[in-house]
Amino acid sequence: MTAPASPPRALVTGVSEGIGRAVARALAADGYAITGVARSEDRLHAVIDGLGPGHTALVADVASEEGRKRVVQAVQRTPFAVLVNNAGIASTGPFADVPLGSAAAMLDLNCYALVTLAHAFLAAARPGDALVNVSSTLAFAPMPNLSVYSATKAFVTSFSESLWHEQKARGVYVMGLCPGMTATASQPHNGNDVPAALLQTPEQVAAVAMTALRRRAQPTVISGTKNALFAAAARTLPRRTVLRLLATEPKPPVAADTPR
Ligand SMILES: NC(=O)c1ccc[n+]([C@@H]2O[C@H](COP(=O)([O-])OP(=O)(O)OC[C@H]3O[C@@H](n4cnc5c(N)ncnc54)[C@H](OP(=O)(O)O)[C@@H]3O)[C@@H](O)[C@H]2O)c1
Repeated sequence: MTAPASPPRALVTGVSEGIGRAVARALAADGYAITGVARSEDRLHAVIDGLGPGHTALVADVASEEGRKRVVQAVQRTPFAVLVNNAGIASTGPFADVPLGSAAAMLDLNCYALVTLAHAFLAAARPGDALVNVSSTLAFAPMPNLSVYSATKAFVTSFSESLWHEQKARGVYVMGLCPGMTATASQPHNGNDVPAALLQTPEQVAAVAMTALRRRAQPTVISGTKNALFAAAARTLPRRTVLRLLATEPKPPVAADTPR
């Protein structure tokens, strides 16, 4: 009797909440064995346990040197078929009013951690594997009061597009996933200031990601028609018009541990 084939493995960062949790659940439902990464042990274990047997929790702060190292070691040890670089944070407020540490924290997590894990994953990737970098529709629009955040997401989308091209000949798929406003627990736009019609659920974003993962065609995947229209307008309109339309009255600064 031959031993049953082991399931393909997927590592998802930022898996204890929101989009990361929804993507992990969708991947698990598709037969992947999940390794989920987050900092808060309790919430992480609750999500991983909820997926059923065969999934793994890896407690790590990927914004820290030590946490990144642990996740890189896991990626080097285990042949993951999919890496989802999802963990990301934002701080709001006029750039000069927000402490520099908040900007640095965003760069560390949204860019440096994502690049580090992408490098470890691609160094060991085999044909058929896939890298998903979670960006944002703000990748297409400079956003006053979210200046560093929107710039990190422009970085993620540009980086992912280049990798998509580089890895195509190897048979490795790279996707830059761009959600728009999504109703996650930590979102300030969970409140009344955003019309419900403009918000997606994390499950809707995950469904778009899974469809794109099966098709393995597009370098940049925008979640939903309204978000695609927003991105098209942001790319077409003069930059100054985009800035004027997106600029909001400055609100009190919010430190960088607010994913968005
Ligand atoms: N929600 C939106 O409207 C929206 C729109 C566009 C793009 N996005 C992007 O989508 C991604 C997920 O956002 P979300 O709204 O789903 O976030 P969320 O619900 O707040 O969840 C964030 C997840 O990341 C984990 N995390 C945060 N910092 C971490 C770190 N240093 N190391 C490891 N894990 C960390 C959190 O767990 P712990 O706190 O336990 O570590 C949590 O599991 C982000 O990249 C975000 O920029 C979101």
